[in-house]
Amino acid sequence: TTNNITHPSTLVFHFKGPISCSFSDQIALPDLAAAAMENWGLVTYYEGSLLYEEGVSSVLNKEQIATTIAHELAHQWFGNLVTMKWWNDVWLNEGFATYMSLFAVDNVEPTFQLKELNILANLHTAFEMDALASSHPLSPPQEEVQKTSSIIQMFNSITYCKGAAVLRMLADIVGERVFIEGVKTYLSDFSYKNTDQNDLWRSIQKAEDKNGGHTQVARFMEPWTKQIGYPVITINTTNGEVNQKHFLFNDSAESRHVLNGRCFSENRVYVESHEFLSKNGEWILANINCTGYYRVNYNPENWDRLLTQLEIDPHRFPPMNRGQLIDNAFFMARAKLVEVTLALNSTRFLRKELDFLPWQLTVRNLEYFVVMFDRSEVYGPMQACVIKTSFFCFQMLAIEVACSNELPECLEMATKMFADWMNSNNTNPIHPNLRSVIYCQAVAAGGKKEWDFAWARYQSSSDTSEKEQLRVALSCTKKTWLLNRYLEYTLDPDKIRLMDVDSTISDIAWNPAGHALAWNFIRAHWDYVSQDGDMLINAVTSRFSTQFELDELERFKAEYDLGPAANEVYQAIEQTHVNIQWVRENKDAILEWFERETAE
Ligand SMILES: *[C@@H]1O[C@H](CO)[C@@H](O)[C@H](O)[C@H]1NC(C)=O
Ligand SMILES: *[C@@H]1O[C@H](CO)[C@@H](O)[C@H](O)[C@H]1NC(C)=O
Ligand SMILES: *[C@@H]1O[C@H](CO)[C@@H](O)[C@H](O)[C@H]1NC(C)=O
Ligand SMILES: *[C@@H]1O[C@H](CO)[C@@H](O)[C@H](O)[C@H]1NC(C)=O
Ligand SMILES: *[C@@H]1O[C@H](CO)[C@@H](O)[C@H](O)[C@H]1NC(C)=O
Ligand SMILES: [Zn+2]
Repeated sequence: TTNNITHPSTLVFHFKGPISCSFSDQIALPDLAAAAMENWGLVTYYEGSLLYEEGVSSVLNKEQIATTIAHELAHQWFGNLVTMKWWNDVWLNEGFATYMSLFAVDNVEPTFQLKELNILANLHTAFEMDALASSHPLSPPQEEVQKTSSIIQMFNSITYCKGAAVLRMLADIVGERVFIEGVKTYLSDFSYKNTDQNDLWRSIQKAEDKNGGHTQVARFMEPWTKQIGYPVITINTTNGEVNQKHFLFNDSAESRHVLNGRCFSENRVYVESHEFLSKNGEWILANINCTGYYRVNYNPENWDRLLTQLEIDPHRFPPMNRGQLIDNAFFMARAKLVEVTLALNSTRFLRKELDFLPWQLTVRNLEYFVVMFDRSEVYGPMQACVIKTSFFCFQMLAIEVACSNELPECLEMATKMFADWMNSNNTNPIHPNLRSVIYCQAVAAGGKKEWDFAWARYQSSSDTSEKEQLRVALSCTKKTWLLNRYLEYTLDPDKIRLMDVDSTISDIAWNPAGHALAWNFIRAHWDYVSQDGDMLINAVTSRFSTQFELDELERFKAEYDLGPAANEVYQAIEQTHVNIQWVRENKDAILEWFERETAE
């Protein structure tokens, strides 16, 4: 069962486009700098972003493909039919395409249940970058986005994820019906024209006024699009007081947020009892369904009640809020607004959790702990604890967590399944949904034989999803010499295509055994690897948490031509500062928590 797909260039799909009676063709190409490009009439995709084959591709591939197609088709309206005046407002394209794809995918395939998952994933991603003082406003002044490199830098998680999040917030404030009415007016009034964000505000204002609403759209939205960052709202349920401040990982960084009060008061905060004073010791939960682009913190007593409620009956809260509570607790702890043990305590209710959302958010947040501690003595007790709690039912996530924490049964299973494939004479017995995680774990547990087999398969396979899974799996080995050889392969376009260079190096950098090698490697070959170095710095510096690493990063900034990677380097420097301090202040408490939890 190898690949039955027709040659990509003959594979063209037709979709009805925005102009009546016209069609949009979709084509898969072996080489493309981005995952896809929304050219009007002929949308181009990197093969793996469009081609799906039953029995080879995983469900995850299918979901990603659906999301990408929906995103590109949304661009036929947002971007192609109506185009932003200048690149500073590119969020009008990307935020809308990201937001609209949620509905499109949900509509054609509700069983994926992707909407809420993607909403929270987008929020988490935007919140991460936007918690740095070196973030940028969603819609910066035009004069700040003039050079090619500044334009390229605009294509980041702020533009996509924060863009989608603030649109969702606006839709919630004016109501979805009014929002859609306003957007329709926007699309028809500005067909074949150029817009800035004020044109969008005016269109939605028209619909709001017509429907008797009172929101001042531009006045409400401007603080969210023109300022960096987001607020954290602190609710004290003992006295009913509420205050807000700019949320930053570095609490001593200068806040550039104009606290005008409007952000919050016009941004309706939903609570159980519609007030913030707790009666009879009841909990209060704000930002139901996470529609607001802000985080919520509480007094310790209310946190305690919320966590108790989660342990008794988590289903009192919507799944999004269960995920968000954990995410909030972990981010608050990173910003030193709550104790780190509170965040860890919030994961206890997961034993009863059957929904995927809260688990996914937990795994994402624990990733930060993993990269901070996987080279230290905290790692042992942490692994033991994760194994103890993960008897959950999400197979792929479970295998990933169990195997990456070196649970012997898991490693044996992965090794055996992979060996069956090596001995199977061309038929792959591994279920498509499990391939990516089994490949990675088997290569990690194995040696040269497994690596060479995977490499040979990578080179000979003509199936894009299989190729992609193998390319990632090759970075999972723990053998330094294999990782070094793999890094060298990225310099040879016959081995690793230029478009895959940066993700290959990033994958190697995520591996604790490859992190230092990758950092040395990109400095030695910066001219080559930075040609398409999207998010490379972010991945390679993710573990940086020592003064020595910070000094190296500062030297890198001073001595290299950073080009479009400049902002990423500034953000990495700030993040490293924050990490150093966080590890210093929290390591002991975290070690103690994990040790106690596993002793119980
Ligand atoms: C926090 O920001 C302040 C002011 O900008 C800066 O001096 C300090 O180095 C930063 N600290 C960390 C941990 O990033
Ligand atoms: C939250 O979302 C759920 C599911 O989408 C919906 O049923 C509920 O009405 C929403 N709650 C609020 C307050 O918007
Ligand atoms: C909440 O309000 C009470 C009563 O005014 C006060 O004693 C307490 O310190 C406040 N808690 C926080 C976290 O601000
Ligand atoms: C976390 O849970 C432990 C054990 O139940 C408790 O002693 C501790 O106070 C909790 N920490 C916080 C910050 O709530
Ligand atoms: C493997 O496949 C080849 C070619 O189809 C065949 O000649 C050979 O006998 C097979 N070996 C095994 C062990 O099945
Ligand atoms: Zn796009």
